[in-house]
Amino acid sequence: MSISNNKLIKLSSPWYGQEEKDAVARVLDSQVTCMGIETKLFEEELKKFLGREDTNIICVNSCTAALQLSLQSIGIKPGDEVLVPTLTFISTFQAITANGAIPIPCDVNRNTGFIDINDLTNRITNKTKCILPVLYAGIDNNINEIYEIANDNNIKVIEDAAHSFGNKSIIKRSGILCFSFDPIKNLSCGDGGMIVCSNNNIAERLKDIRLLGVIGDTNNRYNNSRSWDFNVKEQGWRYHMNNICAAIGRAQLSKFNKIKALRCKYADLYLEELRNIDELQLLPIDTINGVPHIFPIIVKSQTVDNLKNFLLHNNIGCGTQYKPNHLLTYFNRGYHLPNAEWLYKHMLSIPLHPMLTEDDVYYVISKIKDFFKK
Ligand SMILES: Cc1ncc(COP(=O)(O)O)c(C=O)c1O
Repeated sequence: MSISNNKLIKLSSPWYGQEEKDAVARVLDSQVTCMGIETKLFEEELKKFLGREDTNIICVNSCTAALQLSLQSIGIKPGDEVLVPTLTFISTFQAITANGAIPIPCDVNRNTGFIDINDLTNRITNKTKCILPVLYAGIDNNINEIYEIANDNNIKVIEDAAHSFGNKSIIKRSGILCFSFDPIKNLSCGDGGMIVCSNNNIAERLKDIRLLGVIGDTNNRYNNSRSWDFNVKEQGWRYHMNNICAAIGRAQLSKFNKIKALRCKYADLYLEELRNIDELQLLPIDTINGVPHIFPIIVKSQTVDNLKNFLLHNNIGCGTQYKPNHLLTYFNRGYHLPNAEWLYKHMLSIPLHPMLTEDDVYYVISKIKDFFKK
């Protein structure tokens, strides 16, 4: 184990190598960099890899786009209310307002970061049209209750699964799930996103509105072509995934089992080594079905400021995931959400990505232990 460390251990990082460089070069050599054959092959390979050849996979240029399009595809309209946990990246909220709808921030469970069922139930009104649960750190506790509540109240559900690529149980669900392939996610396309959608009619609409609303152009694009005589029936967006990003994604998919093994190994080390520190609480990160994307730790006894400064001083990157959205001016609705506000002060993410070495992880663990010994 390295005792001193002069390099910064990054909080997060993609893991690009020769495979990705070759993939980008292949697309550049083809002179076709827009959406095309690579996008098609990536979508097919994803279905196969995920064991979901029975469903629709629609690749777009980010998870933010995936969420925005998904909300539009189920008919979310200006003025509709969407229940969403406040503890999420701003994308989840912006995707709602991009549709003219109103994000209603809900509190989260203090032990899991997952949307709090009681708080959510209390915020249902006759304007509530959708629940947008976030699978924070890949955790999906209580998801069945969300679907039951939604069913009872005639409300739709879209899952923000940005953190959850590679999770074996989440991917089995029907409905609409949105994943992120941005640079630091489990699988990275440079930038990208994926919608998994079991309803064929909604999937067709999604395919059109990712291509500026041009009806039925996806198959032409897959053949590196496009239609010149077409119709448009609704607002669409330029949100498709291009060949360059898809080719990077294909390269990442071919080594995903290695990415998964490293992420799970490092998360298991943290879970094993940090669980006996009394001042800490760990989230129920799943390394059996899941592929951990982030590793937030909860400091029960004090706010995280001192630990954060100590880790940064020791060249260990760390961060807050996330500042609750109801504390941001644009999304503030004038009420407190105590659990999320408490977690904001007490939760800190520590490095987790495939570019780490085992020594790096032991170094992080040793510094956290040092801090609590003081
Ligand atoms: C929970 C959550 N939702 C949505 C997003 C947006 O993903 P993207 O960067 O692909 O738009 C992120 C990205 O960090 C995220 O963490």
